[in-house]
Amino acid sequence: MENIAWGELPFGYFKTDYNVRTYFRNGKWGEMEISSSETINIHMAATALHYGQEAFEGLKAFRGKDGKIRLFRWKENAKRMRRSAQGIMMAEVPDDVFFKSITTVIKMNERFVPPYGTGASLYLRPLLFGSGPQVGVKPAEEYMFLVFVAPVGPYFKEGFKPVDIQLVRDYDRAAPLGTGHIKVGGNYAASLRPADRAHKEGFASVLFLDAKEKKYIDEAGPANFFGIKGNTYVTPESNTILPSITNMSLRQIAKDIGLDVDLRRVSVDELNTFDEAGACGTAAIISPIRKIVDREKNKTYQFSKDGQVGPISQKLYDTLLGIQLGEIEDKYNWNTIVE
Ligand code: PLP
Ligand code: COI
Repeated sequence: MENIAWGELPFGYFKTDYNVRTYFRNGKWGEMEISSSETINIHMAATALHYGQEAFEGLKAFRGKDGKIRLFRWKENAKRMRRSAQGIMMAEVPDDVFFKSITTVIKMNERFVPPYGTGASLYLRPLLFGSGPQVGVKPAEEYMFLVFVAPVGPYFKEGFKPVDIQLVRDYDRAAPLGTGHIKVGGNYAASLRPADRAHKEGFASVLFLDAKEKKYIDEAGPANFFGIKGNTYVTPESNTILPSITNMSLRQIAKDIGLDVDLRRVSVDELNTFDEAGACGTAAIISPIRKIVDREKNKTYQFSKDGQVGPISQKLYDTLLGIQLGEIEDKYNWNTIVE
């Protein structure tokens, strides 16, 4: 086994042995190439650099107790990447190219798949961008699809402990009819400044509101929001948030464990009424929320008084992770075994 402190890994870049690359040229996808270089060579007029023609994905592979490697819901990530490509006029990556790339990069880096029981997993980062030159504002004619991996631990340094979140009103991550629903780099660029300020002010992340009315909860910087009200899992429906695959899975798990699920607009005022709250995503998994502070209104919504994780968030977390690790029946075939 590798000499890596698996249990202490942060969520971050980690040099591994290989990455894979496929080019779209002359109207078609080429053969996948395996590379051991950490750098790429692209045209200085590449549209990704000038006009933000770039989208990425994030998914995880887990080593189970049985030693098998399970990849979680990759088809959903492939589908979302196609939607992102459509949204900013890039060449779409076909499922077979996506699947071959992610399975190859896992197998080539098998020594970096964290062992079972360490709490770490292998994060996959598929990346698609316009690599061909343009100076006018137009889509590129050439694209590069690349996947690298990194063994990672929890996204928030708190791990599975309640975090503090800052609700912001003086920044938007996405416009009402903009690109919030797809996973393009520009959304993240727009979130850097408020996120940095939130960190400096002692918060793990920001929570954005809908840009139009500033009345409804959209999502956290890198994750969706959910609240638990009595026996109901409540999560915002909005055209400007990223449809989270984790959230989609949690809605199913919530139903399976006997909760009601409410997917609808969630107003800020309603925060008062939640017994538990959390942020969810591939990187964040479930990050329970201790409190949300509305920065401008100087108002605090408290969810966890003693720093403990709420019972329903705990159950959702245990079930999701149990399925990902092959310990709980995977009744919807969310896992793909990598062989
Ligand atoms: N929202 C944003 C803005 C994200 O970047 C992510 C991460 O991918 C999510 C939500 C969670 O989505 P998923 O559960 O598919 O990882
Ligand atoms: C993910 O959860 O996969 C993300 O992409 C979140 C963040 C690291 C951008």
